[in-house]
Amino acid sequence: LAADPANGKANFTKCGFCHRIGEGAKNVVGPELNGVVGRPAGSVVGYAYSQAMKTSGKTWDEASLRAYLAAPSAFIPGTRMTFAGLGDPAVIDDVIAYLKTFKPD
Ligand code: HEM
Repeated sequence: LAADPANGKANFTKCGFCHRIGEGAKNVVGPELNGVVGRPAGSVVGYAYSQAMKTSGKTWDEASLRAYLAAPSAFIPGTRMTFAGLGDPAVIDDVIAYLKTFKPD
């Protein structure tokens, strides 16, 4: 089944407590997520990342996002993203498809 960005948008409400995305998105609790797919981890200027994120050496592609969004602290031990993760792999793919609709600032 193809990933569904509209369902990803609906599920982004779980992320929206801490993240903004779209035109004019600012860093809040978490970094803004415009263009995050393809972005090196920990690279938004002016956002105070954890040391774990800054030194992770990861790049956010589909595989790394799948792993992080399923279990953030397992994929990057020490991350400050205190989020249990999204349980359903299909929903994770839908959220990634939604993230991909936003270009970098
Ligand atoms: C970091 C996505 C939910 C707080 C990140 C990053 C991504 C991400 C991709 C890394 C960004 C980068 O390296 O620039 C998401 C998605 C979510 C979600 C898609 C929903 C499924 C949340 C929630 C919170 C949160 C609910 C707050 C309770 C943070 C924080 C960071 C972060 C504080 C920085 C982590 C660090 O520096 O270790 N998020 N997030 N996120 N997120 Fe989330």
